[in-house]
Amino acid sequence: MQLEGIEGRVAFVTGGARGIGRCIAETLAALGARVASGDLVRPEVAGVLGVELDVTAEQSVDRAFAEVERELGVVELLVLNAGVLIAEPFDALTPENWHRQLAVNLTGAFLCARRVLPGMRRAGAGCVVAVGSSAGKTGGGTAAAAYSASKAGLMTLAKSIAKEYASAGIRSNAVAPALIDTDMIKGIGDFRDRIPLGRYGTPQEVADVVAFLCSNHASFITGEVVDVNGGFVID
Ligand SMILES: NC(=O)c1ccc[n+]([C@@H]2O[C@H](COP(=O)([O-])OP(=O)(O)OC[C@H]3O[C@@H](n4cnc5c(N)ncnc54)[C@H](O)[C@@H]3O)[C@@H](O)[C@H]2O)c1
Repeated sequence: MQLEGIEGRVAFVTGGARGIGRCIAETLAALGARVASGDLVRPEVAGVLGVELDVTAEQSVDRAFAEVERELGVVELLVLNAGVLIAEPFDALTPENWHRQLAVNLTGAFLCARRVLPGMRRAGAGCVVAVGSSAGKTGGGTAAAAYSASKAGLMTLAKSIAKEYASAGIRSNAVAPALIDTDMIKGIGDFRDRIPLGRYGTPQEVADVVAFLCSNHASFITGEVVDVNGGFVID
């Protein structure tokens, strides 16, 4: 894939040790970005700076971004990808699991964006992409209330940032994937027959859209949520 506007830029991907985040980090690196990837355990990805990061802890966020700034420079592309799904029906949803999913999926994104946006504003440029979910539009299946609420919040956060920072030259968008073949969806059942394209998506199919949104080819796109779901949700 050839995309203009990514080569040489500093990118940070949260939750980049595995799955979709790992693929996004590899894809941006292959396009010539200088990429850092943060996760609970320091990611080991060839050609990518791995840093330890717990997005729910402000000090950890500060430490991780300071390390990236020291090693690579000011972050210009931020991918808010870290996420957890605890699939359980509302009856069984404990306050602890509610808070956990909101803390990682939504508050974690807020803490990372808050750390990065002042530098982007000073630079007069930047790009944020949040990895939301179709569940944030639909409410999910029958066992994902907290996850769905957190993703709805995250996609709205991406829109709010788009509005507040457009005049500073910063774009902010989200992707809304569904049923991408990663560890996250193992054990939630088989939904292939409910996907019009007849299969699960791949992390690469999400990473390609994230890379496009980070690139100059998306220079007039901000505040958008792009579905990547094989037709699972058509709205
Ligand atoms: N797989 C899907 O079908 C699907 C669908 C829609 C949205 N998503 C979203 O895509 C993103 C990536 O999911 P995935 O499928 O690759 O799942 P995954 O579980 O393979 O990866 C999630 C990553 O986030 C990391 N993470 C969790 N808590 C963290 C924290 N506190 N700080 C830093 N990192 C943390 C995990 O360690 C893991 O590496 C998530 O936000 C998920 O909600 C996935």
